[in-house]
Order: sequence, then C-alpha cells, then structure tokens
Amino acid sequence: MSELFQSFQLGTMTLANRIVMAPMTRARSPLGIPNLLNAEYYQQRATAGLIVSEGIPISHEAQGFALIPGLWSYEQLQGWRDVTRHVHQAGGRIFAQLWHVGRLSHHTLQPYGRAPVSASAVTASPLYAKSFTYGSDGELALLPPDAPRALEMHEIAELIKDYTDAARFAMDAGFDGVEIHAANGYLLEQFLNPHTNQRTDIYGGTIRNRARLIIEIISDVAAAIGSARTAIRLSPGSQVFDMPFYPEWQQTYQQLVAELAHFKLAYLHLNDERRDGAAVLSDSYLASLKYHFQGPVILAGGMTKVKAEQLISQQVIDLAAFGKPFIANPDLVARLQQDLPLTTPNTSTFYGGMAEGYTDYPVLNEKTYA
Ligand SMILES: Cc1cc2nc3c(=O)[nH]c(=O)nc-3n(C[C@H](O)[C@H](O)[C@H](O)COP(=O)(O)O)c2cc1C
Repeated sequence: MSELFQSFQLGTMTLANRIVMAPMTRARSPLGIPNLLNAEYYQQRATAGLIVSEGIPISHEAQGFALIPGLWSYEQLQGWRDVTRHVHQAGGRIFAQLWHVGRLSHHTLQPYGRAPVSASAVTASPLYAKSFTYGSDGELALLPPDAPRALEMHEIAELIKDYTDAARFAMDAGFDGVEIHAANGYLLEQFLNPHTNQRTDIYGGTIRNRARLIIEIISDVAAAIGSARTAIRLSPGSQVFDMPFYPEWQQTYQQLVAELAHFKLAYLHLNDERRDGAAVLSDSYLASLKYHFQGPVILAGGMTKVKAEQLISQQVIDLAAFGKPFIANPDLVARLQQDLPLTTPNTSTFYGGMAEGYTDYPVLNEKTYA
C-alpha cells in the first residue's frame, strides 16, 4: 500500500494516514462563535490523518473578517469543544490554527474602532487586499483595509501573551495542538518581510530581528503547551495580499527554519502559493527546508495523489495537505485511495452562508464508511 495511506507517528500522536486537511476560512460562524454546523463540517472530514482548523483569531484585534470563529472568550471555547469532540468521535485529529491578520483589517472589526496593528505603518493596497466587514449601511462588504499603526514595543509582550493564552484555550477546548499562522501575508509575515517591516528596533532590520517575533511566540507557546503540540505554517516567497517580493526570501526562510528546529516542534507546514499554475517552491528548495528543520514537514498547494506519493517517497515531505479538494470531497481520503473521481468545489460558496457548499457535498461509496 502507498505510504500516503499508512499511519504516521506525529510526536506522541498516531495519525491514520499522511493526508492533512489544510486550514480553510469558511466564514460560517455568526458572532465569531463556532457552532454545531461547523462541528458537522469538520466531523465529515475526520478521515484525514490530521485536520488543521480554519484560521482562528487569537483576540479581538487579530480579526480581519466578519463571521470568523475566534478563541478568546468562554463561549468560543465551548463552541470549539463541540468541534473537537465531533472530530475525535469520528477518529480524527485536529490542530487549531492561531491567526492574527495584522494590517489586513478594518476599524469596524477592531476594539473601539481603532486602527489595525502591524510591524510598521505600511498600508496594504486595496487592489490586492480586502477586509470582509460591515459597511456604513450595515451590510457585509469587501472593503479596503485601513492604514495600520506600528505596534509599540510594550505591546509586543501583550501580543505574545495573546498567542499563548489562545494556545492554552485551544488545549482546554480539546485540540490536539496548535499551528501558529505565520503565512499568507498576515501579521507574522508582515514582520518577516523587509518592505512591510521598517522597524529600527530589535524586531526590524536583519533577518534575525525580523524573525524574532515568530521565534518569541513559538518559544512562549511551546513552553506553555509543549513543543510536541506546537507547529507553524509558513509560505516562503508568498506575495499574496500585497506582500512585496524581496530577493533574499529563500535565505530568510532557511534561517528562520533553522532557528525553529531548536524547538523540536510537531511539524512545519509549508504553503506553496503557486503562481500562474506553477510551484514557487522547487523540490530542491523544499528539501533544503526539510534539512534545516529536521522534523516532520507538511506541504500544501496544488497537491495531487501522484505528487504527494512522489515527494513522500523521496523524503522531501512527510505529509501532504489538500485545501480546496477537501471542501467538495469530505471523503477525500477514500476517493484518493480508490482513485474515484473528485467533485469540483463551488467557489461562490467558499465564504459565508450556511450548509450549502459546506456540509452538503456528497460522500461516494457510503458503504465503505458504514
Ligand atoms: C476557502 C479557502 C480558505 C482558506 N483559508 C485559509 C486559512 O484560514 N489559513 C491558511 O493558512 N490558509 C488558508 N487557505 C489556504 C489553504 O490552506 C491552502 O494552502 C491553499 O488552498 C492551497 O491548497 P490547495 O491547492 O489544495 O487548495 C485557504 C484556502 C481556501 C481555498
């Protein structure tokens, strides 16, 4: 049998297979509280070896979109308990993706209508980034992100505490671990990228300084909940949401990953953003990151069964993550294993709404699951 469908030891956990459901925001949690429809959605996909939850804002300030379930209040914690219970009852495993959007936010989503925060006061172009929030007419709309303000030094300690508190809450809520979201143009990437980080203090300038916040968060979270339960997601070379290109990006990520290796984390999750249908991360670059990390590596982005099997057998990656295919194929693992056709997801129901395009995708071969 292909290695993809065999169990995998991830720290102290045994995963049923090497297929991961990638984190996906679905904006189906009114008032920011996870509900039973969300629990049903995750349970339907629990045959994945590991599910990574949608991005979960760690605080009120961390939000950039409406209808997203957070993890800083008791009601939210209770809602997540239902989700993790449903996944575990179905034999699955689930990590919480801890998220702070940084500058990709809007004052209507911020406490007291304040400006969003970032590494520096560099605004994301509305041509490439939008915030999904309530407009002045009270209707939900895609609006340009507001100009951010640079985090003050004293606020950084509070920010790190917000991550650690959310990680503790995640453990309380029954998650198997947490994945720190340092990918896709959000706050932690805003610190890493020299164009969005123009700081002159210890969090700006050299690669080491720009990576400092990520390392401090990982260190604090790992100390609080254990390194075997702590993971990270990165998207090297990402230019999404107006993140400008910089020539030393490859070296930046190699250095960051080498520093992360000291913590012996649960895994490193890489998202290949893919441009014009082609991979941004070459196999040799992926292999160099695996070499520097010295631990389990997950890759997402245009994954196929053939690519997953090839990269796993070459030991370039350990686990293969699928995003969009999991939206429309709750039984993706069985379909891949049996080479059954895949349903195409409906992009118009990716975000917002209720059950349509969320929990109503069909399962093939119901009998195999009975
Ligand atoms: C609807 C949707 C929502 C997403 N939300 C998140 C998210 O919350 N956090 C994250 O790190 N990536 C997010 N992603 C990116 C996916 O995790 C994944 O990396 C990307 O879709 C590439 O994988 P794929 O080609 O298999 O879809 C999202 C993608 C989609 C399609």
